[in-house]
Formats: sequence, structure tokens, C-alpha cells
Amino acid sequence: MQALSVVGTRPNFMKLAPVSRALAQRAGVKHVVVHTGQHYDDGMSEQFFRDLALPPPDHHLAVGPGSHAAQTAAVLERLAPLLEVRRPDVVLVYGDVNSTLAAALAAAKLNLRVAHVEAGLRSGDRTMPEEINRIVTDHVADLLFVPSRDAVQTLRHEGIRPERIHFVGNVMIDTLVRELPRARALGAPQRHGLSPAGYAVVTLHRPSNVDDPGRLRELLGALAALGRRLPVVFPVHPRTRRRIEADGTVGADGAALQLLEPVGYTEMLGLVDGARLVITDSGGLQEETTFLGIPCLTVRPNTERPVTCLLGTNRLVAPQRDALLSAAAAALADGDRARPSIELWDGHAAERIAALLCGEAGARVSAPAPSALAGAVG
Ligand code: UD1
Repeated sequence: MQALSVVGTRPNFMKLAPVSRALAQRAGVKHVVVHTGQHYDDGMSEQFFRDLALPPPDHHLAVGPGSHAAQTAAVLERLAPLLEVRRPDVVLVYGDVNSTLAAALAAAKLNLRVAHVEAGLRSGDRTMPEEINRIVTDHVADLLFVPSRDAVQTLRHEGIRPERIHFVGNVMIDTLVRELPRARALGAPQRHGLSPAGYAVVTLHRPSNVDDPGRLRELLGALAALGRRLPVVFPVHPRTRRRIEADGTVGADGAALQLLEPVGYTEMLGLVDGARLVITDSGGLQEETTFLGIPCLTVRPNTERPVTCLLGTNRLVAPQRDALLSAAAAALADGDRARPSIELWDGHAAERIAALLCGEAGARVSAPAPSALAGAVG
């Protein structure tokens, strides 16, 4: 059996790692990895291969920066000939980025079997580029590997046949469970001069938060005000860095914040694990904080991961100074670090995926039963 995984951005690599390991443990499976090059800086890409002990990709498409159209088109154009030569038995795509959509389309057009890892997530917000990528990818995929039970219901409501849907759990949590001891041993908070449990971690990179200078200024102002109450450490995504640098007026606020270059997976996990509060617009951090029981404020009007709000520590907050500061004060006052238990977020999702791909007996774990979470998006 030949499986071919396509990855391209930072959040793809944590999802690839456990699947890659699970496939490597099976005799008779050849696993080929293609990196599209959507993310190309060492800190956004190679650093993650090193941290997660992933072998270097077999192919690199060097797509690089560009508009959504240009990026998607370049992956389609460069991946298709490779797929035609290799003719894998299954093409695995991960998450919701432009590389995911392009790879799923390229494979589906060649009548190759497509498997989507992290299927069924919906924010209900079609202004997000990721939402379009999720919908199209799920509808061309043959196998949909779903991280939470509400996503099973979402796919059923969209008319996807039940036999294509497999509720396997969350591969991001597989990576977290494996890497947490190493992250704790690294002492990331101390390395950054942060006292244990006495700081907040911030990440922001969504176009809706960082592309409008007025919005970004308001958010940085609120974070600086929070930074006068407790240390705030902010590893800055390249998209956000560019916007901050283009807008000189945020310089003063920057002084109250510890702005870092993007950090690697293990260091980030160590920082998050030690934090009293996380403020973010990332999808992965909503899940990681829920698993760790760290209060999380998500600066978005919606989430494609409602389970993190319903059962976890995640709260949605408007991108406004007062809303952010009062939500932060409430989260800091509530000292509880409760770790909810979410079904199949147990460190073994990739094992289930590999077993299903290899047709192993008893591997079917899909259970599309009615759920209390159905329709809870938003
Ligand atoms: C992409 C994904 C988003 C994901 C995020 C994680 C899409 C539509 N968006 O957004 O879902 O949460 O990755 O990081 O696929 N850049 C660099 N160096 C890099 C990568 C990017 O400088 O290594 C720059 C690009 O040149 C561009 C900007 O950052 O100017 C944005 O990169 P892009 O790949 O378009 O999307 P992200 O905002 O990173």
C-alpha cells in the first residue's frame, strides 16, 4: 500500500507526525511525504520537522507566497504530475489550508482516493478562506477522518454518506500527548524569564484580526494594557509581523509585550502549558488549551471547534479592547485548571487512521450517533 501525504503549513506538520509514525510501524506500507512549500521560513517549517523528528519530505514543491489563487494553482500544477507518476493508493491531506484544498482537488481529478484528516469542522463563516477549503476538501474526499462527534453530524447534514465518515479522534492531541514531557523538560517559561503560571501567551494571525490596521492597533493596545498587569509573551506570525512593521504607531504598545519570532512546536507547547491564559485566533491552540485545561480567549466571532467552548476552556471574544480586557480579567480571576475529557482525544487517533487505511479487522470506529453538540457551531 502506498500512501502519499501532502503538507504545506505550520499546523499541518503536527497532524502529519503521528500519522507518519503509525504508518511507519506497518509492514508493507510505503509513505511518501510532499511539502508544498506554502510555508517556507525555517521557523515556520523545518523547525517543526526537527522538533517532531519527522524525516525530510520526499518532494518539495517550493510554492512559496502568493495570493490564494496563485498558491492554490501552483500546488495543483506542480502536484498533479507527481501524483500521475506515483499513483498512490491514497492521498492524505490535513486541516484546512490552501495546500489542503489544492492537493485534494489534484488527487480527486486523477481519480485517486483522498483521505481528509481533520474533516467535518465548520465555523459557518464563509468569509474565512479556511472555511471554503474545509467544505470543498470534505466534499471531494473519499475518507473523512473526524476529530469530534459534532463533526460527524455536520457531515451527515451536508449529505455525505456515513460509510465515508470515520470518527477517529484528534491527531493534534496525539502529538501533544507525545511531546508534553519533552516540552516540560525544556523549561521554556524560565528561558524567557517568565515566572511559573504568571504570564499570558498570545498568537494572532487571522486576516480578520491583523490585516486591518485599526483592528490590529486596538488589539495590540488591549494586549499592552494586559501586559501592564502580567507578562504577555507573543510569538509573532510572519503575516502579523509584516502588518505591525507597516504600521509604525503600534511601536509604543510593543514595549509592554514580549514580541518573539515564531517558536518551534516544543517550545510553544512548554510556554502554553505554563501559562495562566492564552489569547489566540489559532484553531490548534483552542484544542491544545482545552486538553491542558488552560483558559483560552479566542478572538473570533465563531469557531469550527465548538467542543472547545462547550466542554473545554475556550471562550469567544470580540476584537475590542474592553471585551478582551474584561474577558481576560474574568479568566484570570477564575483560577481553576480543569482538564475536560473529550471523547477520543486520547493520543491514539493516528493509530485508528492507520488501521482504517490498512483495512485492519475491527478498525471501523465511526459511530455517527445523535450528539448533544449537533449544530452547536457559532
Ligand atoms: C496559513 C493558513 C491558515 C493557518 C496558518 C498557520 C491558508 C488559507 N491559511 O495562513 O489557515 O492557520 O497558515 O500559520 O492556507 N509567510 C512568511 N513565511 C512563511 C510563511 C508565510 O513570511 O514561512 C508570509 C507569506 O509570505 C504571507 C503571509 O506570511 O505574506 C501569510 O502566509 P500564507 O501562507 O498566505 O497564510 P497564513 O496567514 O500563514
